Amino acid sequence: MARRKLIAGNWKMNMTSAEGAQLIKDIKAQFGAECPCTAVNKPDVLVCPPFTSIAAVIEAAKGTCFNVGAQNIHWEEKGAYTGEISGNMLNELGVTYVIIGHSERRQYFGETDDTVNKRTKAALKHNIKPVICVGETLKQRQAGETLAVIENQVRAALKDLTAEDMKNVTIAYEPVWAIGSGLAATNEDAQEVHAMIRGLLKKLYEGTSVADETRILYGGSMNDANAAGLLAQPDIDGGLIGGAALKPDKFAVIIKAALGK
Ligand code: 13P
Repeated sequence: MARRKLIAGNWKMNMTSAEGAQLIKDIKAQFGAECPCTAVNKPDVLVCPPFTSIAAVIEAAKGTCFNVGAQNIHWEEKGAYTGEISGNMLNELGVTYVIIGHSERRQYFGETDDTVNKRTKAALKHNIKPVICVGETLKQRQAGETLAVIENQVRAALKDLTAEDMKNVTIAYEPVWAIGSGLAATNEDAQEVHAMIRGLLKKLYEGTSVADETRILYGGSMNDANAAGLLAQPDIDGGLIGGAALKPDKFAVIIKAALGK
């Protein structure tokens, strides 16, 4: 079964409600009457605004094929967790995906492999598709630890998840050194890690179709110039895009690259 590509924009802490709604209009305008959802081999398109802009962006995205996701989810339903957002709250908004374990959360906000696993389970419980981020630092890459680090992160994130759960899980490989640096991984380096992750899924879910069906996205300075090359790799099933997702023309080029146009 061919995996449908997923082109996802992580807006990070950018875009007020008004700006986000405008950005959706501007992305739509890049396609004219021909919404990418009309293509036969269409990619899934996802945008993940900050929590406060989600409602306005969902409204602006009505009538398009754009999915709207969140950038985090807490594992408890409610309670004394200042600053956190629960699955119920996201369900009420109508989000369909959630980014979990982004390296910025791991670096600045104390996210651990254990909390990534808890958030993943919470997302699945609430029928929200987790996009789980993994990635090595520059120091780890230079020390030759990349594959071991990624394997550990993936194993920990997927702890106790069944093959059935995995139908809704996406993994995003985002080398920390490539994020926001303008220096994306080469096609070959990215493909090497993606192939390792798929091999690991084969082992973890032996005898099932999980490895063949799970989408593995690349993220880290993906842009209009390098997207086609990265997306052509056999184990790269889409992109998780930061900076270029805020630029309608560039994001549209990436979506079109996923269409094979
Ligand atoms: P950039 O595309 O800005 O490098 O960010 C990637 C990213 O962190 C997406 O989650």
